[in-house]
Amino acid sequence: MRLVEVLRKRTPGPVPIWLMRQAGRYLPEYRAVRAKAGSFLDLCYSPKLAAEVTLQPVRRFSFDAAILFSDILVIPHGLGQELTFVEGEGPRLDPITDEKGLARLDPGRVLGCLAPVLETVSEVRAVLDKQTALIGFCGAPWTVATYMVAGRGTLDQAGARLWAYREPESFNRLIDILVESSARYLNAQIEAGADAVQIFDTWAGSLPPAEFDRWCIIPIRRIVEAVRAEHSGIPVIAFPRGACDGYGRLVEAVAPEGISIDTGFGVERARQELQPNAVIQGNLDPLALVAGGDVLRAGVERIMQALAKGPFIFNLGHGIVPETPLQHVSELVELVRGNPGSRRTGGPS
Ligand code: CP3
Repeated sequence: MRLVEVLRKRTPGPVPIWLMRQAGRYLPEYRAVRAKAGSFLDLCYSPKLAAEVTLQPVRRFSFDAAILFSDILVIPHGLGQELTFVEGEGPRLDPITDEKGLARLDPGRVLGCLAPVLETVSEVRAVLDKQTALIGFCGAPWTVATYMVAGRGTLDQAGARLWAYREPESFNRLIDILVESSARYLNAQIEAGADAVQIFDTWAGSLPPAEFDRWCIIPIRRIVEAVRAEHSGIPVIAFPRGACDGYGRLVEAVAPEGISIDTGFGVERARQELQPNAVIQGNLDPLALVAGGDVLRAGVERIMQALAKGPFIFNLGHGIVPETPLQHVSELVELVRGNPGSRRTGGPS
């Protein structure tokens, strides 16, 4: 399993590739299953169908990893918060803004509610090729909290930021609940067959440094410690999107095996400051993949030149978008697998 080997041993060599949101609407076979399943959440909770869409992108593009098909918001759903996905708009939750809302959350029911997702993990692992890793995941507490508080995706995450400033102790109770549930959920995914796990902190970039340390780094560190306590050999990849200077502090404080860099993070800086301590993953602009052609070739080349001599996993800087042409994804895989940068590492350069 090339991806897990790179993460564990930090050996440079052939660069593994997978893409965030690789199962999704850019694939006609995903759209067909999605139409059959009914709602997006129905699909997440139908192990047979969720396993099928998890495998689709691996079959089509031979990626080095499958990522469990689910969503970061199944944790609030499992805690008892109402959740729906509105077609073409995104998630809607019944907002939680105070202690009364927190009292309605029930950590005791999370793993029971998420049993179908764990079954998806086992089904996928049972049929997935042995060379292909299965990645489990959860959202980081900060990012999940931003959705729980606003009841939807927001541009500025103002609801959670204000609660955290005004009443840090009660906000911390929400974070505590999420740390505990997420840690148990990741451990259960690993027990069901996940070979590595990724923690998505999509909105890490909305916090200034002191708040980033408190609401992103510390909760992620607690989750990673809980995973290591039970499953020490399973690599963890952290994705603190938009964290800028916070990337270095997170790598130092959490020591994740992998660090996923967003599109804006400079590859030279990643090479110098992060790669000595963690395997880098990233960071092609998802829209360079939509544009294709010279833009795609130049983007891949720039990233491989800087990072493929060290331990590196090719990915996008954020999720693949629905308008991505299938042909561009095939070309990307060929570029990464055939790129001289990925082969040069064995001998003298
Ligand atoms: O990466 C994968 O292929 C695995 C599956 C996966 C999904 N969501 C499926 C999904 C993963 C890892 C996620 C993570 C996720 N979900 C994040 C963190 C990563 C990121 O992209 O920033 C966040 C913030 C969410 C919350 C979420 N889910 C939003 C805001 C939306 C609506 C926006 C959109 O793209 O429609 C979703 C829906 C969602 N999650 C879809 C998929 C395939 C599209 C729903 C559909 O098919 O109708």
